[in-house]
Parts: sequence; C-alpha cells; structure tokens
Amino acid sequence: MKNLENNQARIFEVGPRDGLQNESVILPIKTKVSLIEKLVDAGLKDVEIGSFVHPKWVPQMANTGEVAKTIKKKKGVSYWALVPNEKGLTRAIDAGLEHIAVFMSSSETHNRKNVNRSLAQSLDQLSRVIDKAVSRKCTVRAYISTVFGCPYEGAVDFSRVIEIADALFSFGAGQVSLGDTIGIGTPLQVKENCARIVDHFGSAEHFAIHLHDTHGLALTNAFAAFLEGFRNFDSSVGGLGGCPYAPGAPGNLRTEDLLKLLSSMEIETHVDRDQTDEIASWLERSVGFDLSTRLSFQNL
Ligand code: HMG
Ligand code: MG
Repeated sequence: MKNLENNQARIFEVGPRDGLQNESVILPIKTKVSLIEKLVDAGLKDVEIGSFVHPKWVPQMANTGEVAKTIKKKKGVSYWALVPNEKGLTRAIDAGLEHIAVFMSSSETHNRKNVNRSLAQSLDQLSRVIDKAVSRKCTVRAYISTVFGCPYEGAVDFSRVIEIADALFSFGAGQVSLGDTIGIGTPLQVKENCARIVDHFGSAEHFAIHLHDTHGLALTNAFAAFLEGFRNFDSSVGGLGGCPYAPGAPGNLRTEDLLKLLSSMEIETHVDRDQTDEIASWLERSVGFDLSTRLSFQNL
C-alpha cells in the first residue's frame, strides 16, 4: 500500500482467494502454493492467498492455514488473508500472516447472505477486528462489496458506500477496495462514482477497485476508474473468480488483460506479462481449468 507515482499502478492479485473460492473441486495445498509462488515470481507484490472464513461456508478455503505455512515467503511481498471476524483474524495470525483484508457489503441483503450480519453489526464487528489487527501490527485493507449494484436489491446508493468507507478508515483500514461483486457497473457509472470518491476523500490514493467481469466490462471499468486517478487494481490471473454468495458473479478482471491495458498507457507495474500469460496456460494445462470462456484480448 505504498504511494504511487502517476505513471505507476499496483496490482492486487486475488486469484488464489477470489479466483478459487467458487471452484467446487478443492485444490491440493501443493497446487495452491505453486500458484502463489508463480504469481510472486512474475513480480506481483500483493497476493491474496486465501481466506479464513467458516470452512462450511466456503470449503475451498479450509486449507488456507496450511497453504500460508507452506509458501516460501519472499521479502517485499505482502501475502494477504481475507478474514470475516475475530476468529478469522486469529487463524490468520496463527498461520503467520500479517496482511489482513476484511470485508462487508454496502447492501443489507448481500451482507446477510455473505456474513450472516446486518450492515450495522458488520461495522461493529469490523471496528473490533481492525483494531485488533492494527494492535497486532498487521496491515489492513477493507473491501466494500456491491458498490455498483446488489444481486438481491438492485441499485445501491453510493452515499452509503462513502459512509462505510469513512467508517472503515476511521477504524484503521489503510486501503478500501470498492467491489463490483457481480460485475454490474458500467463505465460512466464507475467514472462518476470514482470521481465522487476523489471529491470526498481528496484523492484515490487509499482506494483500490475490484471488478468482476460478468458483462465483459471489467477492463473498460478499470479504465474509467484510471481516468479518475485510481492506480490500485484488484485482478485475478486467468480471470478466475466469483463470490459464492453473489449469484451471477463470475470471473474477476483478468490480470493479463489489466497488464496489457496498463502497459499500453506506459504505466509501470513491474509485473512480467509473459509470466502471467504462462501461469494462465499452466492453470489450463496442469490444473485443468477451462479459461477459454473468460474474456481476454490476449490474442488481439
Ligand atoms: P455465522 O454462522 O454467523 O458464525 O457465520 P457465528 O459467528 O455465529 O459462529 C458460528 C460457528 O462458526 C462457531 O463455531 C464459530 O466458532 C465458527 P461453533 O461454536 O458453532 O463450533 N466460526 C468460524 N470458524 C472458522 N473460521 C471463522 C469462523 N467464524 C465463526 N472465521 C461467518 C458467519 C462470517 C463465519 C460466515 O458467514 C462466513 O464464513 N462467511 C464467509 C462468506 C465468504 O467467504 N464469502 C466470500 C468472500 S467475500 C467476496 O468474495 C467479495 C469480495 O471479493 C469483494 C467483492 O467482489 O465485492 C471480497
Ligand atoms: Mg470479488
């Protein structure tokens, strides 16, 4: 979560967590560790390696603790864990992690489906989780989901997103990531709301944008956010991804496409594009994912 020059961008790779959490076949620890180590070798400096949610809610993430303990950690790389509550935080810290991502929604119904809490209860819970994480010297980022629309309630009032972001920063979060959980945002809507963020918070420096690609607009939406000064982008190698409690949330913005967009504008990320392309091929070849349906302008 370093400050960036205007010609730099930072990619927060969510593949091992958001990318895999929706997959029904549980990947072995060895495969997850290989994926994470390949991503780091490609130059990614922020990798979300998994989550410490209830294993019954998301079985794919049950082995995150072992994954965390097995990876060979590299200096200068932040290995992130997604946690919903204090129990998740304790599990993450016990597994040796010090970069913590918390999450809540901006719509009541999605929040209840996702974490079994009202928005008010989540805010109360996250104030304690963030406080405890900061007191344990962890770095904290916070996701706000459904910012451009909810699968259950439809339109979301963006003023509520801003209020929640204000609260999460006041609890001690260092960065807020705006989640288009079901990939429903459109470029002008994204641009307008990103401009509201910059207007309210003075800049987009402490924000990231987290896009899903339901309608093939994730890359265009990333560009819309870029135009408003956003430089922190979440993405997933191969475009894997989806939220199990958000029907219609397929892949995340594909890391390889994001890299191509940024490099076409001479924006530096220090991530090797050949290596990320190769990781996507490896996922198909060796892990057995079919990524052909994920949108990509790889061959254009
Ligand atoms: P709950 O049932 O309300 O939990 O679930 P509870 O607090 O009532 O506790 C019930 C039992 O669960 C207790 O055990 C707890 O100890 C245990 P018992 O006493 O009955 O034996 N428990 C846990 N066990 C392991 N790890 C934990 C944990 N917490 C409680 N962390 C809960 C609440 C939050 C746990 C559940 O709803 C849950 O796990 N939800 C996670 C859903 C999820 O992972 N969704 C996907 C990630 S979010 C996402 O994808 C969106 C994002 O990408 C951004 C975007 O796209 O917008 C981030
Ligand atoms: Mg997501």
